[in-house]
Parts: sequence; structure tokens; C-alpha cells
Amino acid sequence: MERRLQLQPRLQLLADMVPEGCRLADVGTDHGYLPVYLLQRRRIRGAVAADIGAEPLAHARRTAEAYGVEGIDFRLCDGLRGIAPDEVDTVVIAGMGGETIIAILEGAAWTKDGAHTLLLQPMTKAADLRYWLAVKGYSFTEERLVWDKSYLYPVLRVTGGGTPQALTERQALTGVALDNDPLYREYLTQQADKLRRTAEGLRRSAKPDAQQRAGAAEALAREIEEKRDTL
Ligand SMILES: C[S@@+](CC[C@H](N)C(=O)[O-])C[C@H]1O[C@@H](n2cnc3c(N)ncnc32)[C@H](O)[C@@H]1O
Repeated sequence: MERRLQLQPRLQLLADMVPEGCRLADVGTDHGYLPVYLLQRRRIRGAVAADIGAEPLAHARRTAEAYGVEGIDFRLCDGLRGIAPDEVDTVVIAGMGGETIIAILEGAAWTKDGAHTLLLQPMTKAADLRYWLAVKGYSFTEERLVWDKSYLYPVLRVTGGGTPQALTERQALTGVALDNDPLYREYLTQQADKLRRTAEGLRRSAKPDAQQRAGAAEALAREIEEKRDTL
């Protein structure tokens, strides 16, 4: 009997957000779980599984073999550099820092063409990523939250080709399309707590602008808590 691959919650949410019938690029595929899961269930038409490392790519090949999934195009490349725009319509970049995701998108201007859906899941620096995306004219069509090993992570669905805009610091930190997510209150609490810890550190600092920055961080934490309390 065919073995069915099961996913952990973070990858499961990403799998659920991948459009049915799409041609997928999974950048930084590592173990290859996402494309193997989707192809095993015939949810997508095809997949390029890309990774910068030979060892992760070999791991992905072994996963495909173990689950009897054929037809994945394995690619050893940095980001999207080895993938042509017309090969795929959906790009997943997950499980990496926000700055790495930005660097990958900067190296692939075609992701701004409005014809590609991007699903981005930063492990860190989500605010920097949101800010960068908005300034470059990517539009947020959806954001969702998921718990993974006691951390709360956002997944962003964006497309390019929109009007560039500058997000406020609060928008960048708290997301622009999360209001209806059941975990949003918890996310806002976490963001506010993080700002309060930053402020506490700054209060102890002797740097000339530290007290002013502490005040700004506390004010932003209050603003986020007020937003949370209206939900
Ligand atoms: C922590 S794993 C994430 C695996 C999977 N995407 C997930 O979300 O569970 C990160 C993977 O990204 C790969 N990676 C890091 N930088 C990359 C880049 N610039 N281009 C392609 N792959 C990259 C690493 O080799 C590693 O296999």
C-alpha cells in the first residue's frame, strides 16, 4: 500500500495555501516534503524543487523515492536563479530568514510581474520582509498564522505589480491582512511583548538616544495592545 506523507502544521498550512493545479517552485526545499505531499495527492500539476545545497537536494530525492512520487524537477541553484518565469506560476520560499527571502526576490525581478503567486514564510524579520515587499509594489492578498514548536509564524501570500507603498512600523510588525486570523490576538501580544523587552533594554543603556527610542518602543507596544483589545 502507498505510504502517505503527513506534514507538520507549518508546512501543512503552506500546502493548504498552494493553489490547486498550479506549477510550483519550492525554493529551499530541503527534505522536499512540500512538493512530495502535493504531488502525492495530485494537488498540483508539477514542481521544481530547488535548493542551494547538494545534500538537501539529495534528501528531497530520497523523500520522493520513499513516497513513490515521480516527476519532480530537482534543481541545484541559489534562490530562483536557475528557474525561468514561465516554468512555474507559484513560488514558495519558506523556513528561511526574512533577509534571505528578500535577497532571493531581489535576484528574480520577474516575481514582480503580477503573474506569479508568492507564498513566503519567514522564520525571522517578518516586519522587514513586509516593509520591503510593500515598497517594491507587491500586494498582500492573504496572511495566515501558524504555531510551530511553540513559535507563531506568519505566511504571506503576495503578488507583484501593485502600487509601491510605505508601511508604517506598526503595519510592518503586525501584518496588513491578518485581522481575521484566529491567532491574531496572540500574535499582537507577542509583538507588543517583544517591543517592551526592547524598551527595557534601552532604558538600561547609556547611549544618547536610548531613552527616546525606549519611549518610542513603549508607545508602539501600547498602540499594538490597543488594536488587540478592539478585536
Ligand atoms: C530550514 S530549511 C527550510 C526547508 C523547507 N522550505 C521548510 O520550510 O521546512 C532551509 C533550506 O533553504 C536552503 N537555502 C538557504 N538559502 C537558499 C538559497 N539562497 N537558495 C536556495 N535554497 C536556499 C537551505 O539549504 C535549506 O535546505
